[in-house]
Amino acid sequence: MRKNIAAGNWKMNLSYSDAKALATDLSKVDVPAGTDVILGVPHPYLAQINEIVGTANSVSVAAQNCHEKEKGAYTGEVSTGMLDSIGVKTVILGHSERREYQKESDALLSEKVKVALAAGFRVIFCCGETLTTREAAAHFDYVGGQIKNSLFDLKNEDWKNIVIAYEPIWAIGTGVTASPEQAQEMHAHIRKLISDGFGTEIAEATSILYGGSVKPANAKELFAKKDIDGGLVGGASLKAADFEQIIKSFQLARK
Ligand code: PGA
Repeated sequence: MRKNIAAGNWKMNLSYSDAKALATDLSKVDVPAGTDVILGVPHPYLAQINEIVGTANSVSVAAQNCHEKEKGAYTGEVSTGMLDSIGVKTVILGHSERREYQKESDALLSEKVKVALAAGFRVIFCCGETLTTREAAAHFDYVGGQIKNSLFDLKNEDWKNIVIAYEPIWAIGTGVTASPEQAQEMHAHIRKLISDGFGTEIAEATSILYGGSVKPANAKELFAKKDIDGGLVGGASLKAADFEQIIKSFQLARK
C-alpha cells in the first residue's frame, strides 16, 4: 500500500542556524505510523540537516534539484553522486519554479528522473497547471502531458521510487488552495493515467501529494481525500509548529 507523505519544501529560505533549529524541532515530532516526513533542504545545509534528523522518526531530507549528468564540467551544479555521498536519497524534480525560472523542460526532466533513479533515489516529481490553462479547461491534458513526457518511458520497477506532487501554479505561495474536490479530481485523473500506462497495482502503490498553500487549517480536509496521499508544503513547512500540525493531519491510515 502507498505511504502518507508530508514533504516540506524550504526553497531558498532560512539561515543555516534557523534551518538547524527547525530540523531539531522536527526530529522530535511523533510521526504517525505509515507516514514519511521529508524535508526539501537547500544544498549547502543537506549534510548537516541529514545528521540532525537521523533515522529515528521517519524524518529524512531531500535535495531540491540535481543535475542530469553524473559528473563533469558543469559549474555550480550538484550531481546525484554528490548527494548520495552525503546520504541523501530523495530529490524533488520539476518544481514549477524551476520549470519557469530555470526553463526546465519535460525532456530535461525525463533525463534528470532517469539519472536519479539509476542512482537509487526516490524522486518527488512535480506537475501542475497555470490558472490560464485551468480556465481554458485544458488542465487535465496539460498535467497528463507533463507526466507522460517525463515519466512514461520508465520501466514498471522504477515506479516504486516515484512520488508525484500535483501543485497547481495558481495555488503556490498565493494563499489560494485548490479545494479538496478540485485536488481529488486531478489526483484521480493522475492515478488513472498511471493505471492505464503501467497497471492498477503500480497506480495504487504510487503516492500522489498535493501542493499549493497547504496549511494546518486545510491539511486535514485535503489529506482525507481518497487519492491525496499527503502534501508538498512550502511556506507552512518553515515553522515547526505549523508543519507538525500538518504531519499530524492524516486520518486515512494507508499502511
Ligand atoms: P506553498 O508552496 O505551500 O508555499 O504554496 C508549495 C510548493 O511550492 O511546493
